Amino acid sequence: MTCPQRCVFFAALGWDSGHDTLDLVADLGDYRPPAGASERATQAGVTITRAIRAESGAVLAFESSTFPSWARWFEPGDQNILVARDGEGAIAGTLLFEGPGTDSVFLPLLGPAAGTIGCVGVAPHRQSQGIGTAMVARASEILRDAGTRTCHIGWTVRESFYARAGYRPWRRYRMFRRTTGHPGTTP
Ligand SMILES: CC(C)(COP(=O)(O)OP(=O)(O)OC[C@H]1O[C@@H](n2cnc3c(N)ncnc32)[C@H](O)[C@@H]1OP(=O)(O)O)[C@@H](O)C(=O)NCCC(=O)NCCS
Repeated sequence: MTCPQRCVFFAALGWDSGHDTLDLVADLGDYRPPAGASERATQAGVTITRAIRAESGAVLAFESSTFPSWARWFEPGDQNILVARDGEGAIAGTLLFEGPGTDSVFLPLLGPAAGTIGCVGVAPHRQSQGIGTAMVARASEILRDAGTRTCHIGWTVRESFYARAGYRPWRRYRMFRRTTGHPGTTP
């Protein structure tokens, strides 16, 4: 992404330009998972299921140790969670999903049958074995069967990963940070 006039504007106010991030969407009306997605996860010895309430403690422990910044999103206990477990029953990955009718600020743009997938995380020692793709594909199928149309995945840098699962870029953002105050602005 090139830095247009507005980037110069924010830089002049003391904001430092950072990395780019993006949101992706897919119309799940006719969603089909990528070829071989579930087979690859099976070959990795992993089973993907919807978490039941009795698993919430184990899921929270996994988030707290593996993706601590996401743990609070798994806390309420009434979310839809997918869990990937290995042959010993250890959690290898998790994600959150919701829809149709997800409570999103983008609802007017995405339509009333919108859904979301987020906090997609695979334990570092189990990454690049197809588990993440299989989880996103499975969640998309569940959402499709529940009547979700546009599914939104926000705030990520993993474009090729989500594109392989059937999602396309929707919006791109340039992140800015400011660590010091600046005259005329709120610290
Ligand atoms: C992003 C993340 C969820 C991906 O999970 P994963 O299990 O490693 O995903 P997969 O194995 O399905 O795909 C990862 C890599 O494996 C390879 N791969 C996947 N499917 C493949 C296939 N069919 N054939 C060959 N290679 C394949 C690719 O190199 C791929 O990398 P790419 O998507 O960047 O091109 C994981 O890396 C992670 O937890 N990262 C930290 C948290 C994070 O950033 N989450 C996403 C933000 S919302």
